[in-house]
Amino acid sequence: MLDWDNPLEESATDNEAGPAATVSDSTPAVETAPAANEPTSVAMPPSVPEPDSASVSSLPTANIAPVNPDDKRVINGMTDINQLAPFKYPWAWEYFLNANKNHWTPLDINMAQDVHDYRHNLTMEERHVYENVLSYLTTSDILAMRNIGLAVMEKMSAPELQIYQARQVYEEALHTWTYQHCIETIGLDQSEIYNRYRVVPEINQKIQLANSRLDSILRSDIDLRDKDELENFVMAYTFFGGIFEGCWFYNGFSPIFALQRRGLMKGTAEQLQYIMRDEVLHASFGIRVVKQIIKEENVKLDPRKVQQMWEEADAAEEIYASYILRDPILGYSKENHLGQFRFIANRRAKQLGHATPFPGAEATLPWLDEQANMRKEKNFFETKVTEYQTGGALKWD
Ligand SMILES: [Fe+2]
Ligand SMILES: [Fe+2]
Repeated sequence: MLDWDNPLEESATDNEAGPAATVSDSTPAVETAPAANEPTSVAMPPSVPEPDSASVSSLPTANIAPVNPDDKRVINGMTDINQLAPFKYPWAWEYFLNANKNHWTPLDINMAQDVHDYRHNLTMEERHVYENVLSYLTTSDILAMRNIGLAVMEKMSAPELQIYQARQVYEEALHTWTYQHCIETIGLDQSEIYNRYRVVPEINQKIQLANSRLDSILRSDIDLRDKDELENFVMAYTFFGGIFEGCWFYNGFSPIFALQRRGLMKGTAEQLQYIMRDEVLHASFGIRVVKQIIKEENVKLDPRKVQQMWEEADAAEEIYASYILRDPILGYSKENHLGQFRFIANRRAKQLGHATPFPGAEATLPWLDEQANMRKEKNFFETKVTEYQTGGALKWD
């Protein structure tokens, strides 16, 4: 029986009743009447004050038209934020519906073989890659959750945008749980792994770059009617959607997918396949929102600053790749990693309407899209036999 006052505690009744006990809406929460002077755990409903007819009738409820969707704006809107429809941005609602087709928890995936692989089948160099990828990702996903929840979502002035972002906040938390589940299951030293980004300069510099872009919008007093503040916000969101999620996350899982291709750490890789599907949607949504802001607010970004942002991200990725892949592993190299970053960066830049930041970059991991794309028929003999999607097809990119 669920104790409504203390839902995480198993009640004594539960233990006696065994697993067959069920919660029924029609069953009172307390089955045995308490003694006369024994405190009851059932909360009494608060007394409801009688409505004050004078104050109710004075509320301005009449002659107010519903929100006109044409008046909505992504930011700086003045319409009622609590009216979802009619939509101005029906695509944002579609993202929300699409995101809800993707359900899993890290507990759904069997990690037993990963424990064996880590202890007996990975080389020292492969362990180095595995641990540092997880170390980077744990920090990054908490940063992502905080950025979208605390810095971006509150600036939106249309509820259909905020609702998808609320889902995104949850997904970032779920991703952090996933890494934690991997770290805990494999038996890694948690405090050492979580602290690694602060003591390994090559990981730290990548997080610091993200912080320098994102911290500047982590304030509620930003005036987005101010041209400079608006430009800074757009650049920060561009960095977040286009680079942080669209390239660094997208590309960040590939060293583990390379292990998976050799039959190693398949449980972890499957967890990352689930996360990657979310991140593709996050990046795509962020890019679309940024473009909509640029259009509505008539923002003109400086192309030199945009190119500088791509080059900074590239330099940070090169340092990171040189560290995690300082010693080669079979089937994956730092050249593969950086080449694929540049190839994906060009793709994101095109989506954003930027000039090509890395002309001539070619795909160095031609297997990545297929490897990351999870389908039941492909996944049938893997660790989990249920489908990732519970609804219609997701567009992959
Ligand atoms: Fe995430
Ligand atoms: Fe994300």
